Amino acid sequence: MSPIEPSNSYKQKTEPKPIKAIEIKENKPKSRLTAENINQAENQAEITLRPSSLDEYIGQERLKKILMIGISAALKRGDSSSMGHILLYGPPGLGKTTCAFLLSKLIGSQAHIFSAPSLDKPKDIVGVLMSLQKDDILFIDEIHRLNKITEELLYPPMEDYCLDLSSGNGASTRITRLPLPKFILVGATTKLGNISAPLRDRFTHIQKMEFYQEADLITIANRTARILNFDLSPEASKMIATRSRGTPRITNRLCRLVRDFSAHKNTNLASAEVVEEAFTLFQIDECGLENTDREILKTLIENYNGGPAGLETLAATIGEDARTLEDFYEPFLMQLGFLERTSKGRKATPKAYQYLGYS
Ligand code: ADE
Repeated sequence: MSPIEPSNSYKQKTEPKPIKAIEIKENKPKSRLTAENINQAENQAEITLRPSSLDEYIGQERLKKILMIGISAALKRGDSSSMGHILLYGPPGLGKTTCAFLLSKLIGSQAHIFSAPSLDKPKDIVGVLMSLQKDDILFIDEIHRLNKITEELLYPPMEDYCLDLSSGNGASTRITRLPLPKFILVGATTKLGNISAPLRDRFTHIQKMEFYQEADLITIANRTARILNFDLSPEASKMIATRSRGTPRITNRLCRLVRDFSAHKNTNLASAEVVEEAFTLFQIDECGLENTDREILKTLIENYNGGPAGLETLAATIGEDARTLEDFYEPFLMQLGFLERTSKGRKATPKAYQYLGYS
Protein backbone atom coordinates (compact mmCIF):
# COMPACT_ATOMS: atom_id res chain seq x y z
CA MET A 1 0.00 0.00 0.00
CA SER A 2 1.38 3.42 -0.84
CA PRO A 3 2.07 5.72 2.07
CA ILE A 4 -0.81 8.01 2.88
CA GLU A 5 -0.23 11.02 5.02
CA PRO A 6 -2.44 13.81 6.26
CA SER A 7 -2.22 16.59 3.76
CA ASN A 8 -1.42 20.01 4.98
CA SER A 9 -2.30 22.62 2.46
CA TYR A 10 -1.43 25.31 5.01
CA LYS A 11 2.24 26.27 4.98
CA GLN A 12 4.31 24.43 7.51
CA LYS A 13 8.03 24.14 8.18
CA THR A 14 8.24 20.45 9.16
CA GLU A 15 6.68 17.80 6.98
CA PRO A 16 4.70 15.19 8.94
CA LYS A 17 6.17 11.70 8.62
CA PRO A 18 4.34 9.47 6.10
CA ILE A 19 1.60 7.41 7.69
CA LYS A 20 0.23 4.19 6.32
CA ALA A 21 -3.56 4.23 6.09
CA ILE A 22 -3.76 0.96 7.99
CA GLU A 23 -1.74 2.49 10.83
CA ILE A 24 -4.19 5.33 11.14
CA LYS A 25 -7.11 3.00 11.71
CA GLU A 26 -5.30 0.75 14.15
CA ASN A 27 -3.55 3.41 16.10
CA LYS A 28 -5.23 4.32 19.37
CA PRO A 29 -4.03 7.70 20.65
CA LYS A 30 -2.27 7.73 23.98
CA SER A 31 -4.16 8.60 27.16
CA ARG A 32 -7.53 8.61 25.56
CA LEU A 33 -10.12 9.80 28.04
CA THR A 34 -13.74 8.83 27.66
CA ALA A 35 -16.65 8.96 30.07
CA GLU A 36 -15.99 5.31 30.93
CA ASN A 37 -12.23 5.43 30.89
CA ILE A 38 -10.75 8.48 32.52
CA ASN A 39 -7.19 7.64 33.42
CA GLN A 40 -6.60 9.51 36.64
CA ALA A 41 -8.02 8.70 40.04
CA GLU A 42 -8.77 12.39 40.64
CA ASN A 43 -10.80 12.57 37.44
CA GLN A 44 -12.56 9.32 38.32
CA ALA A 45 -13.70 10.89 41.59
CA GLU A 46 -14.81 14.01 39.70
CA ILE A 47 -16.98 11.96 37.34
CA THR A 48 -19.09 10.69 40.23
CA LEU A 49 -19.71 14.28 41.26
CA ARG A 50 -20.09 15.68 37.77
CA PRO A 51 -23.60 17.03 37.09
CA SER A 52 -25.42 14.83 34.64
CA SER A 53 -27.82 17.44 33.30
CA LEU A 54 -27.78 21.16 32.62
CA ASP A 55 -30.36 21.59 35.42
CA GLU A 56 -27.94 20.05 37.90
CA TYR A 57 -25.13 22.26 36.62
CA ILE A 58 -24.90 25.15 39.05
CA GLY A 59 -23.56 28.60 38.08
CA GLN A 60 -22.12 29.84 34.75
CA GLU A 61 -25.63 31.14 33.95
CA ARG A 62 -24.58 33.28 30.98
CA LEU A 63 -22.65 30.42 29.39
CA LYS A 64 -25.52 27.96 29.95
CA LYS A 65 -27.94 30.38 28.31
CA ILE A 66 -25.69 30.88 25.30
CA LEU A 67 -25.20 27.13 24.85
CA MET A 68 -28.92 26.43 25.25
CA ILE A 69 -29.79 29.03 22.60
CA GLY A 70 -27.17 27.56 20.26
CA ILE A 71 -28.34 23.99 20.75
CA SER A 72 -32.05 24.61 20.52
CA ALA A 73 -31.62 26.67 17.33
CA ALA A 74 -29.47 23.91 15.83
CA LEU A 75 -31.98 21.24 16.84
CA LYS A 76 -34.79 23.25 15.21
CA ARG A 77 -32.74 23.15 12.01
CA GLY A 78 -32.44 19.39 12.52
CA ASP A 79 -28.66 19.62 12.53
CA SER A 80 -26.99 19.66 15.97
CA SER A 81 -23.51 20.28 14.66
CA SER A 82 -24.66 23.48 12.96
CA MET A 83 -24.28 25.21 16.33
CA GLY A 84 -20.58 25.38 15.42
CA HIS A 85 -17.39 24.75 17.33
CA ILE A 86 -16.97 26.04 20.87
CA LEU A 87 -13.88 27.43 22.58
CA LEU A 88 -14.04 27.65 26.39
CA TYR A 89 -11.35 29.57 28.23
CA GLY A 90 -10.57 30.35 31.85
CA PRO A 91 -8.71 28.96 34.88
CA PRO A 92 -8.71 25.19 35.51
CA GLY A 93 -11.42 23.43 37.54
CA LEU A 94 -14.37 25.56 36.41
CA GLY A 95 -16.16 22.81 34.49
CA LYS A 96 -15.02 22.96 30.86
CA THR A 97 -14.95 19.16 30.49
CA THR A 98 -18.32 18.93 32.24
CA CYS A 99 -19.76 21.33 29.64
CA ALA A 100 -18.59 19.00 26.86
CA PHE A 101 -20.21 15.99 28.53
CA LEU A 102 -23.47 17.88 29.08
CA LEU A 103 -23.52 19.06 25.46
CA SER A 104 -23.13 15.48 24.21
CA LYS A 105 -25.95 14.41 26.53
CA LEU A 106 -28.25 17.15 25.28
CA ILE A 107 -27.51 16.27 21.67
CA GLY A 108 -27.65 12.53 22.35
CA SER A 109 -24.16 11.86 21.00
CA GLN A 110 -20.82 10.72 22.41
CA ALA A 111 -18.11 12.88 23.94
CA HIS A 112 -14.51 12.01 23.08
CA ILE A 113 -12.20 13.66 25.58
CA PHE A 114 -8.51 14.32 24.88
CA SER A 115 -5.73 16.48 26.13
CA ALA A 116 -3.67 18.26 23.43
CA PRO A 117 -0.32 16.73 24.49
CA SER A 118 -1.76 13.24 23.81
CA LEU A 119 -2.35 14.26 20.18
CA ASP A 120 1.24 15.12 19.40
CA LYS A 121 1.55 13.07 16.21
CA PRO A 122 -0.47 13.71 13.02
CA LYS A 123 -1.69 10.11 13.08
CA ASP A 124 -3.17 10.66 16.54
CA ILE A 125 -5.55 13.39 15.43
CA VAL A 126 -6.29 11.57 12.15
CA GLY A 127 -7.22 8.41 14.09
CA VAL A 128 -9.47 10.41 16.40
CA LEU A 129 -11.24 12.24 13.56
CA MET A 130 -11.84 9.00 11.69
CA SER A 131 -13.45 7.41 14.75
CA LEU A 132 -16.08 10.16 15.17
CA GLN A 133 -19.78 9.58 14.52
CA LYS A 134 -22.29 12.20 13.43
CA ASP A 135 -22.85 14.97 16.02
CA ASP A 136 -20.15 13.63 18.37
CA ILE A 137 -18.35 16.07 20.61
CA LEU A 138 -14.58 16.14 20.25
CA PHE A 139 -13.18 17.80 23.38
CA ILE A 140 -9.54 18.91 23.32
CA ASP A 141 -8.27 20.18 26.64
CA GLU A 142 -5.30 22.60 26.73
CA ILE A 143 -5.88 23.19 23.03
CA HIS A 144 -3.26 25.96 23.07
CA ARG A 145 -0.68 23.17 23.43
CA LEU A 146 -1.48 21.49 20.09
CA ASN A 147 1.58 21.42 17.88
CA LYS A 148 1.43 23.42 14.66
CA ILE A 149 1.06 20.40 12.35
CA THR A 150 -1.79 18.88 14.33
CA GLU A 151 -3.47 22.26 14.63
CA GLU A 152 -3.35 22.85 10.89
CA LEU A 153 -4.64 19.34 10.20
CA LEU A 154 -7.73 20.33 12.15
CA TYR A 155 -8.60 23.27 9.89
CA PRO A 156 -10.33 21.37 7.02
CA PRO A 157 -12.26 19.07 9.42
CA MET A 158 -13.42 22.12 11.39
CA GLU A 159 -14.39 24.08 8.34
CA ASP A 160 -15.58 21.52 5.78
CA TYR A 161 -15.87 18.24 7.76
CA CYS A 162 -13.29 16.54 5.62
CA LEU A 163 -9.78 15.26 6.00
CA ASP A 164 -7.16 15.86 3.34
CA LEU A 165 -4.77 12.93 3.06
CA SER A 166 -1.85 13.09 0.65
CA SER A 167 -0.20 10.09 -0.95
CA GLY A 168 3.00 9.78 -2.91
CA ASN A 169 5.59 12.50 -2.90
CA GLY A 170 7.10 15.19 -5.05
CA ALA A 171 5.37 15.80 -8.37
CA SER A 172 3.22 12.68 -7.97
CA THR A 173 1.62 13.79 -4.71
CA ARG A 174 -2.12 13.18 -4.72
CA ILE A 175 -4.57 14.62 -2.23
CA THR A 176 -7.50 12.46 -1.24
CA ARG A 177 -10.34 14.26 0.49
CA LEU A 178 -12.10 12.02 3.00
CA PRO A 179 -15.51 13.17 4.17
CA LEU A 180 -16.01 13.11 7.93
CA PRO A 181 -19.25 13.02 9.91
CA LYS A 182 -20.30 16.44 11.15
CA PHE A 183 -18.97 16.91 14.67
CA ILE A 184 -18.58 19.66 17.26
CA LEU A 185 -15.11 20.55 18.46
CA VAL A 186 -15.04 21.87 22.01
CA GLY A 187 -11.64 23.35 22.76
CA ALA A 188 -10.62 24.28 26.29
CA THR A 189 -7.78 26.54 27.26
CA THR A 190 -6.38 28.42 30.21
CA LYS A 191 -4.54 30.70 27.77
CA LEU A 192 -6.71 32.27 25.12
CA GLY A 193 -3.80 34.51 24.08
CA ASN A 194 -1.71 31.49 23.09
CA ILE A 195 -4.24 30.32 20.49
CA SER A 196 -3.34 31.30 16.94
CA ALA A 197 -5.79 33.58 15.12
CA PRO A 198 -6.55 30.99 12.36
CA LEU A 199 -7.56 28.39 14.96
CA ARG A 200 -9.45 30.87 17.14
CA ASP A 201 -11.41 32.23 14.16
CA ARG A 202 -12.74 28.77 13.30
CA PHE A 203 -14.76 28.64 16.54
CA THR A 204 -18.31 29.99 16.44
CA HIS A 205 -18.56 30.43 20.21
CA ILE A 206 -15.65 31.78 22.25
CA GLN A 207 -16.77 31.83 25.87
CA LYS A 208 -15.11 32.65 29.15
CA MET A 209 -15.68 30.43 32.18
CA GLU A 210 -16.09 32.67 35.22
CA PHE A 211 -14.99 32.01 38.81
CA TYR A 212 -18.05 30.87 40.84
CA GLN A 213 -19.89 33.02 43.38
CA GLU A 214 -19.98 31.93 47.02
CA ALA A 215 -23.73 31.14 46.92
CA ASP A 216 -23.20 28.73 44.00
CA LEU A 217 -20.26 27.06 45.74
CA ILE A 218 -22.43 26.55 48.86
CA THR A 219 -25.04 24.78 46.71
CA ILE A 220 -22.30 22.68 45.09
CA ALA A 221 -20.81 21.77 48.52
CA ASN A 222 -24.25 20.65 49.76
CA ARG A 223 -24.84 18.60 46.62
CA THR A 224 -21.40 16.97 46.90
CA ALA A 225 -21.94 16.16 50.60
CA ARG A 226 -25.25 14.48 49.67
CA ILE A 227 -23.54 12.35 47.01
CA LEU A 228 -20.66 11.50 49.36
CA ASN A 229 -23.14 10.57 52.06
CA PHE A 230 -22.37 12.97 54.88
CA ASP A 231 -24.02 16.10 56.31
CA LEU A 232 -22.72 19.64 56.31
CA SER A 233 -24.07 22.26 58.70
CA PRO A 234 -24.98 25.56 56.97
CA GLU A 235 -21.91 27.30 58.53
CA ALA A 236 -19.72 24.41 57.43
CA SER A 237 -20.83 24.60 53.79
CA LYS A 238 -20.21 28.35 53.83
CA MET A 239 -16.72 27.77 55.22
CA ILE A 240 -15.98 25.30 52.43
CA ALA A 241 -17.35 27.71 49.81
CA THR A 242 -15.23 30.65 50.98
CA ARG A 243 -12.11 28.47 50.83
CA SER A 244 -12.87 27.09 47.36
CA ARG A 245 -11.07 29.83 45.38
CA GLY A 246 -14.16 30.27 43.20
CA THR A 247 -13.60 26.76 41.81
CA PRO A 248 -16.02 23.78 42.11
CA ARG A 249 -13.21 21.25 41.70
CA ILE A 250 -11.70 22.67 44.89
CA THR A 251 -15.11 22.60 46.63
CA ASN A 252 -15.28 18.89 45.83
CA ARG A 253 -11.75 18.28 47.07
CA LEU A 254 -12.43 20.13 50.34
CA CYS A 255 -15.67 18.18 50.78
CA ARG A 256 -13.72 14.93 50.53
CA LEU A 257 -11.17 16.13 53.08
CA VAL A 258 -13.95 17.21 55.44
CA ARG A 259 -15.82 13.92 54.99
CA ASP A 260 -12.69 11.96 55.95
CA PHE A 261 -11.95 14.24 58.88
CA SER A 262 -15.54 13.84 60.15
CA ALA A 263 -15.24 10.06 59.83
CA HIS A 264 -12.04 10.25 61.87
CA LYS A 265 -14.05 12.16 64.50
CA ASN A 266 -16.76 9.46 64.37
CA THR A 267 -19.46 11.84 63.18
CA ASN A 268 -21.46 12.02 59.98
CA LEU A 269 -22.26 15.69 60.54
CA ALA A 270 -19.51 18.12 59.63
CA SER A 271 -20.17 21.07 61.95
CA ALA A 272 -18.37 24.42 61.83
CA GLU A 273 -16.06 23.22 64.65
CA VAL A 274 -15.13 20.02 62.82
CA VAL A 275 -14.47 21.94 59.58
CA GLU A 276 -12.43 24.59 61.42
CA GLU A 277 -10.28 21.88 62.97
CA ALA A 278 -9.85 20.14 59.59
CA PHE A 279 -8.76 23.33 57.82
CA THR A 280 -6.32 24.19 60.60
CA LEU A 281 -4.76 20.76 60.20
CA PHE A 282 -4.63 21.07 56.39
CA GLN A 283 -3.29 24.66 56.70
CA ILE A 284 -6.02 26.12 54.51
CA ASP A 285 -6.71 29.68 55.63
CA GLU A 286 -9.97 31.66 55.56
CA CYS A 287 -9.38 32.93 51.99
CA GLY A 288 -8.59 29.41 50.77
CA LEU A 289 -4.84 30.03 50.56
CA GLU A 290 -2.69 26.97 51.10
CA ASN A 291 1.02 26.66 51.87
CA THR A 292 2.21 27.08 48.28
CA ASP A 293 0.15 30.28 47.84
CA ARG A 294 1.64 31.78 50.97
CA GLU A 295 5.11 30.64 49.93
CA ILE A 296 4.76 32.39 46.56
CA LEU A 297 3.88 35.68 48.26
CA LYS A 298 6.46 35.29 51.06
CA THR A 299 9.20 34.46 48.53
CA LEU A 300 8.36 37.57 46.51
CA ILE A 301 8.37 39.70 49.66
CA GLU A 302 11.39 38.23 51.45
CA ASN A 303 13.68 37.18 48.57
CA TYR A 304 12.79 39.73 45.90
CA ASN A 305 11.78 42.74 47.95
CA GLY A 306 8.18 42.35 46.76
CA GLY A 307 9.19 41.83 43.11
CA PRO A 308 9.16 42.08 40.21
CA ALA A 309 10.54 38.56 39.81
CA GLY A 310 10.34 36.51 36.62
CA LEU A 311 7.96 33.51 36.53
CA GLU A 312 10.76 30.95 35.98
CA THR A 313 12.90 32.47 38.74
CA LEU A 314 10.01 32.48 41.19
CA ALA A 315 9.03 28.91 40.27
CA ALA A 316 12.62 27.69 40.69
CA THR A 317 12.92 29.42 44.08
CA ILE A 318 9.86 27.68 45.51
CA GLY A 319 10.50 24.40 43.66
CA GLU A 320 7.22 24.47 41.74
CA ASP A 321 6.57 23.94 38.04
CA ALA A 322 6.28 27.30 36.20
CA ARG A 323 3.12 26.27 34.34
CA THR A 324 1.37 25.12 37.53
CA LEU A 325 2.31 28.42 39.11
CA GLU A 326 0.98 30.39 36.17
CA ASP A 327 -2.19 28.39 35.50
CA PHE A 328 -3.26 27.24 38.95
CA TYR A 329 -1.86 29.46 41.71
CA GLU A 330 -1.56 32.89 40.12
CA PRO A 331 -5.11 33.46 38.78
CA PHE A 332 -6.62 33.23 42.25
CA LEU A 333 -3.86 35.30 43.91
CA MET A 334 -4.53 37.96 41.28
CA GLN A 335 -8.27 37.67 41.80
CA LEU A 336 -7.73 38.33 45.52
CA GLY A 337 -5.52 41.32 44.63
CA PHE A 338 -2.40 39.77 46.24
CA LEU A 339 -0.29 39.42 43.10
CA GLU A 340 0.33 41.47 39.99
CA ARG A 341 1.74 40.32 36.68
CA THR A 342 3.80 43.14 35.18
CA SER A 343 5.98 43.25 32.06
CA LYS A 344 9.02 42.93 34.37
CA GLY A 345 7.67 40.00 36.37
CA ARG A 346 5.48 39.11 39.35
CA LYS A 347 4.90 41.55 42.22
CA ALA A 348 3.33 41.16 45.66
CA THR A 349 0.79 43.93 46.30
CA PRO A 350 0.44 46.02 49.49
CA LYS A 351 -2.68 43.93 50.20
CA ALA A 352 -0.52 40.79 50.27
CA TYR A 353 1.93 42.43 52.70
CA GLN A 354 -0.97 43.36 54.95
CA TYR A 355 -2.64 39.93 54.74
CA LEU A 356 0.54 38.10 55.66
CA GLY A 357 1.34 40.50 58.50
CA TYR A 358 4.29 42.38 56.95
CA SER A 359 4.61 46.07 57.51
N1 ADE B 1 -19.55 19.86 40.37
C1 ADE B 1 -18.57 20.49 39.74
N2 ADE B 1 -19.03 21.55 39.07
C2 ADE B 1 -20.35 21.63 39.31
C3 ADE B 1 -21.38 22.51 38.91
N3 ADE B 1 -21.13 23.57 38.14
N4 ADE B 1 -22.62 22.26 39.33
C4 ADE B 1 -22.85 21.20 40.11
N5 ADE B 1 -21.94 20.35 40.51
C5 ADE B 1 -20.69 20.55 40.13
